[in-house]
Amino acid sequence: MTARHFLSLMDCSQAELINLIKRGIELKALHRQGVIYEPLKNRVLGMIFEKASTRTRVSFEAGMIQLGGQAIFLSPRDTQLGRGEPIEDSARVLSSMVDAVMIRTFAHGDIETFASNSSVPVINGLTDDLHPCQLLADMQTYQEHRGSIQGKTVAWIGDGNNMCNTFIQAAIQFDFQLRVACPVGYEPDQRFLDQAGDRVTVTRDPNEAATGAHLINTDVWASMGQEDETEARMKRFAPYQVTPAMLDLADESVLFMHCLPAHRGEEVTAELMDDPRSVVWDQAENRLHAQKALVEFLLVE
Ligand code: CP
Ligand code: NVA
Repeated sequence: MTARHFLSLMDCSQAELINLIKRGIELKALHRQGVIYEPLKNRVLGMIFEKASTRTRVSFEAGMIQLGGQAIFLSPRDTQLGRGEPIEDSARVLSSMVDAVMIRTFAHGDIETFASNSSVPVINGLTDDLHPCQLLADMQTYQEHRGSIQGKTVAWIGDGNNMCNTFIQAAIQFDFQLRVACPVGYEPDQRFLDQAGDRVTVTRDPNEAATGAHLINTDVWASMGQEDETEARMKRFAPYQVTPAMLDLADESVLFMHCLPAHRGEEVTAELMDDPRSVVWDQAENRLHAQKALVEFLLVE
């Protein structure tokens, strides 16, 4: 199978990623101007969601419609995927009918299996390991507000989860330093830390990570699939709440990001969500524009 996939940020070169961000900004401007741009007429994106979603579903669906195509929502509850049809068989069949497939699932290995049996591009809409589409939107948002992120210092405060792993890959691809502040036992995946070498440091002290940073990120303390651990995690992560006072330690140009959904009063205070340094709503909107750039890149010759 020779299709081009987007399972992680490492599936693109640094130059391709920079171009994707630039193109997302252009497509946003065209959309704001009301320009009709439909290069994907009659093209179809299949979307498999094994976990809940608001932003990812709506941004891909709206984006495909705006580009002249269509998106089909597939849930395991209503398809044979949920009744045990092998991933390999599902990939062969679905990819014979649609032009690209977006998947949100649990095990990252499942999306890799799907991709290696798919004749069309497969896009990672979040796995337990990675969430690369979110980082396209985040990097677009940083670029729009502050210009290039190259050489900047970024802090990740909280759980070393799928978003944190993806920030590690972003540190490599977009050339910035990343400081992760997390409790013992909640570090990001060692495979990604090894990939990043001295670009990423891990500390236990959130204030140390935040000091002088140009961008501060957090995410929920219990991700989808970890609901049973919620109570224990709330206690463990309490010292890692991101507050306006924590941002005061950062560089004066600091931005605050959260991929959403946010739990106010847990990983972030309610007041920080609407602080002038917060760009969380721009990040969410940019999912639309960044992913339009991505599907255009994967599907338009
Ligand atoms: N940030 C994000 O991926 O949101 P959804 O879970 O709503 O898709
Ligand atoms: N880490 C979160 C991100 C949600 C967009 C999760 O996996 O649930």
